[in-house]
Amino acid sequence: MTTLRVESLRKTFTAQRGAVRAVEDVSFTVEDARFFTLLGPSGCGKTTTLRCIAGLERPEAGTIRLDDDVLSGDGRFVPTHARDIGMVFQSYAIWPHMTVFENVAFPLRVSEHPPSRAETRRLVAEALVLVGLEGLEERPAPQLSGGQQQRLALARALVRKPKLLLLDEPLSNLDAKLRQRMRIELRELQRRLGITTVYVTHDQGEALFLSHRVAVMQNGRIVQEGRPRDLYASPASAFVADFVGDATFLPGEVVEGGVRALGGIVRCALSEALTPGAKALLVMRPERVLVRSAPAGLVNEFAGTLRVAAFLGDHLDCIVDVVGTELRARAHPTAELRREQRVWVELPPEHCLAIPDDGWRPRALARTFDDDET
Ligand SMILES: Nc1ncnc2c1ncn2[C@@H]1O[C@H](COP(=O)(O)OP(=O)(O)OP(=O)(O)O)[C@@H](O)[C@H]1O
Ligand SMILES: [Mg+2]
Repeated sequence: MTTLRVESLRKTFTAQRGAVRAVEDVSFTVEDARFFTLLGPSGCGKTTTLRCIAGLERPEAGTIRLDDDVLSGDGRFVPTHARDIGMVFQSYAIWPHMTVFENVAFPLRVSEHPPSRAETRRLVAEALVLVGLEGLEERPAPQLSGGQQQRLALARALVRKPKLLLLDEPLSNLDAKLRQRMRIELRELQRRLGITTVYVTHDQGEALFLSHRVAVMQNGRIVQEGRPRDLYASPASAFVADFVGDATFLPGEVVEGGVRALGGIVRCALSEALTPGAKALLVMRPERVLVRSAPAGLVNEFAGTLRVAAFLGDHLDCIVDVVGTELRARAHPTAELRREQRVWVELPPEHCLAIPDDGWRPRALARTFDDDET
């Protein structure tokens, strides 16, 4: 049983142009056997948080506990080598002058109590089986494929059977296809071993796919934490809605049971902080907004003009102009839709959420639908 508790972590770097507050008041708990992901854009403090857990950075405030042991804080600082942790970092740095065996055996050799030769062989063999590299012990590490090198880095992180596994963008060096496959393998392996894991990525798809829980970071802080499905369905801010999935935002004024927008009232769920009269942002997932060529007489149905309908295999990706507002929406892949025709969009109320408008806006929606079908 291993639980990681991070409380009120803070880390500032002194750079040439003054102090950089990389991590500010970061707190989270990773329960035993859980896969926990720090997700956020470049520079938001993910790696710094992970390096603090690993003991590679010294936080200036906060505590880090692994079960009952304080790793950092309360006047204590346990050095990296004495922390019961396995790591794979962004540049996963297998050692090119070593064989597969030597790479995996290295953490055992440098540990405080190195095992016997026979025991080392056994532990290395076991770790290689875990990642599917058995039989490749004598292969020079550079002669492995990208995916195999990635697995080697994992085997090396796991060979000491650490209590905690830390992974910093471990798949980012791989091409898209291999990344997809490796993330399936990684998920299976983590679930099978039941090893408590902290993962860092800026890739929301990876975070949703792999994690039991995700913490979204922005400017050194955790702005929301939860299960992937809850973050997706109930983002607390426009930043989170935009970062975790694809979202359309509509500003509007809160009225009883909805938001005034699109020349009418959009029925929706209101986040708790909102009362009538408040400024809100309506958040909708494009895959929940449906386009039809005839009205169906439903709640939240709005007439508009079809601007774009691009064929994407399992659906048509549409942009519909509703009283001057462009809405992202979807239609059935076999729907016969013509550009500039009159259409009706349905915004299912249970998939519309109004959140407080804090002024944050996504980067302008890029129009990438030039080669549309119709
Ligand atoms: N050694 C350092 N000295 C000075 N500033 C640093 C140092 N390491 C990180 N920073 C700054 O701290 C902030 C957080 O950096 P961090 O590496 O934690 O971001 P990140 O979320 O991992 O980003 P990325 O996705 O690009 O890896 C950034 O502004 C970065 O420039
Ligand atoms: Mg990083």
